[in-house]
Amino acid sequence: CGIVGYIGNDSAKEVLMNGLERLEYRGYDSAGIFLLNRDGEGSQLFKEQGRIADLEKKVSDAQTTNMGIGHTRWATHGVPSAENAHPHQSNSGRFTLVHNGVIENYDSLKQHYLTDYQLHSETDTEVVVNVIEYFALTEQLDAKSAFKKALTVIEGSYAFGLIDNEEPGKLFAAKNKSPLLIGHGEDFNTIVSDAMASIDLTDQYIEIHDGELVTLTDDAVTIETADGDVLTREPYTASLDANELDKGTYPFYMLKEIDEQPAAMRRIVQTYQNDAGELTIDEDIVNAMLASDRIYIIGAGTSMHAGLVGSQLIEQLNGIPVEVHVASEFAYNMPILTEKPFFIFLSQSGETADSRQVLVQLNQLGYDALTITNVKGSTLSREAKYTLLLHVGPEIAVASTKAYTGQIAVMAILADAVRQAQGKAAPFDMGQELSLIANAMETMIDEKDHIHEIATDLFTDKRHAFYIGRGMDYYVSSEAALKLKEISYIQTEGFAGGELKHGTISLVEDGTPVIAFITQQNTAAHTRGNLEETRSRGAQTAVITTEALARETDQIVLPTVNELLTPLVSVVPAQLLAYYASLDRGLDVDKPRNLAKAVTVE
Ligand code: G6P
Repeated sequence: CGIVGYIGNDSAKEVLMNGLERLEYRGYDSAGIFLLNRDGEGSQLFKEQGRIADLEKKVSDAQTTNMGIGHTRWATHGVPSAENAHPHQSNSGRFTLVHNGVIENYDSLKQHYLTDYQLHSETDTEVVVNVIEYFALTEQLDAKSAFKKALTVIEGSYAFGLIDNEEPGKLFAAKNKSPLLIGHGEDFNTIVSDAMASIDLTDQYIEIHDGELVTLTDDAVTIETADGDVLTREPYTASLDANELDKGTYPFYMLKEIDEQPAAMRRIVQTYQNDAGELTIDEDIVNAMLASDRIYIIGAGTSMHAGLVGSQLIEQLNGIPVEVHVASEFAYNMPILTEKPFFIFLSQSGETADSRQVLVQLNQLGYDALTITNVKGSTLSREAKYTLLLHVGPEIAVASTKAYTGQIAVMAILADAVRQAQGKAAPFDMGQELSLIANAMETMIDEKDHIHEIATDLFTDKRHAFYIGRGMDYYVSSEAALKLKEISYIQTEGFAGGELKHGTISLVEDGTPVIAFITQQNTAAHTRGNLEETRSRGAQTAVITTEALARETDQIVLPTVNELLTPLVSVVPAQLLAYYASLDRGLDVDKPRNLAKAVTVE
């Protein structure tokens, strides 16, 4: 979910609606805003199921006010509906709250404090706003004290924005585990889940730490610890370019982001180059890798898939064993760790709660970790000892593309730096190879129209599909399948080529699309065999291969690059196939149903 709050002199409605649009990647099943004037007049609440665009119609004739809070939701407790949308109000209407996170003890809070209260939604948030009111009324507390008291009885994750009609002119905020920042301006302040939401107004942001309570007015920021100590914290400058957040002439962000990959590769190489033109990585990170007897890579979704490719790079170039884990599994089913483990977190957003949960545990155990992320200052970056940034620019489409290739490229540079420190000879020049890869990506992108035709041919009216491959190609198959299913809703599996025949091949019927990645010399013949097995059972097959391994009938042929790095190129046509399958179906490519880009709940 995404939160934005504003207090200042401009129209809050405009600021909130623009901010929510920017935050829509965090959830888009319902949205709402609450508006008020700093003098306490003009209180208005608007909520709507669906997108920000649906809410827009409702608020079009709202009265202008100079403060307010807004929210865009990714449903956790309760179905997506106007009732369950935020902001939520207390029974008397005095308090209004927006919330991102999950309150674990909401049921016991309800039973303990709210037996006389009438609740209108199924959300944990409505329980919290009423608990705040309960303390305000029963203990005659002002808003801040009631809020503070409520925070002591709440268990779970949260970022809150709160307004009390009886103390207008103030915006209260607090966080635990969920992200929230203060945007600071000359005569206004904002609270935002992501600096993106108010970057048009200010590039000055102030961090809020877990457990702190914040009071904002139009011209002051007060941060207090749970013990009541007042802190001063300097703002930092967010280096976000508002222009990068526009999709320009592209119909969807996803296509723009696919197209940006060659430039992103070149930018990554440049950024990690020293003055002598050599790729370098912070010595402390290299040393931490050198000292480790096993590396554990942790991530979710596409980032986890990038980790699979990264594991091969590290094992092959460095000879250090690597395990890749799904964050939500690792958190509650931790493998037996070796004596000197080192941890790499992969996260585009740097906010994924599943991954963060693992990092918190590992920090408590005293282990060091590296976060590889696209977002400077993100939670996972702040909380890990080391950070490497992707430098691929903001990724807005829910389906991740340039962050996947960016993560692989950064891991390749990291593995190469460790190799050098190990004194091992270079099997190839990493910087040069990544530059060649940028060109190879461009070649694929230039074949858009051809790939669109293949997508139409393969996927029209299809309900399920397979990607297959072995080794590196298997890892890309997993990512290719995720891309296709998440935006086209065609049920797709990425399968190890050799394993398909041990059960799953029974799903192949007449016309089932089966696409094989054949980019590795040592497995090419076997994967071809596996593809044939599906074809003789009626599958409609296609091949993504390299010039070195291509046969005449192969549909998509990539320029040959080093086999260790082929995923960087072979994934591009798969991203395009997914894009066009979704487009052909008339779906919202950038905002597939049920999903959110940054999932800040476990
Ligand atoms: C969400 C997104 C996925 C993403 C995953 C991990 O589920 O929909 O596209 O891969 O989170 O996100 P992260 O920001 O940690 O890479």
